Amino acid sequence: MSENYRNVDWLSSVWRITTENPSIQKFKLDISAAHPAAFPEELAYRLIYLYSKPEDFVLDPFCGIGTTNFIALSLNRKTIGYDIESKYIAIAQKRCKEQARLFCKSSESMNELAPNSIQLCITSPPYLNARIYSTNSNNIGNMANPIPSLKQIFQEVYRVLKPKGYFCLNVANIAEHGYLKTFPFDLINLCMDAGFKFRSSVIWDKGIKIKEWNLRYNEVAENHEYVWIFKK
Ligand SMILES: C[S@@+](CC[C@H](N)C(=O)[O-])C[C@H]1O[C@@H](n2cnc3c(N)ncnc32)[C@H](O)[C@@H]1O
Repeated sequence: MSENYRNVDWLSSVWRITTENPSIQKFKLDISAAHPAAFPEELAYRLIYLYSKPEDFVLDPFCGIGTTNFIALSLNRKTIGYDIESKYIAIAQKRCKEQARLFCKSSESMNELAPNSIQLCITSPPYLNARIYSTNSNNIGNMANPIPSLKQIFQEVYRVLKPKGYFCLNVANIAEHGYLKTFPFDLINLCMDAGFKFRSSVIWDKGIKIKEWNLRYNEVAENHEYVWIFKK
């Protein structure tokens, strides 16, 4: 696959990208078990390819181990990341060979970045308390109510994005006591409150994982996530 590869299927709104077997093998690094919720490189690749150009700045305010940053560099973009955990920033630095600007702090304040300076933001926040990233009470994944912090971060993303810049937000359904919460949809409203226009959405189909339980009870398995695409 060439670096300038674009598949016309990417313009359709359902993307099959399995987490186990990303098709862009040339980017695959041995980072398994380094982070509990890294997204696939191919997801970042498609979004960066579609929504930015070489030399543009690509930001990830929840960069984890730097998947967005690593792929942005491979596509000749400049890139910036924030994560509150130093253990993830250390891996991201190594992965990006010190070519990314990475900050170990909360992205609630991105005062290192000028207003209207970034072309594209791609990110995936903690999905409520679905994963344990650390014991740090300031980590959004440990908060009982993460909404005020997420609201602040989305406002910061709006401030630093260029007019007409894109914001791609990956989020999934989360169940509590057997029922889904409205979290992904609440985030749409938070982004729109920050000023973004809701441009389009992608269903990320993660591949079929029908378990014994689904078969026994005829229960639909949640095998997808969303990518909400906003424009400033
Ligand atoms: C879903 S993960 C992102 C994973 C990333 N996409 C990757 O591929 O590695 C969410 C990340 O948000 C980080 N995080 C939580 N609260 C934060 C905050 N206030 N500011 C910056 N990062 C934060 C967590 O430590 C975690 O690494």
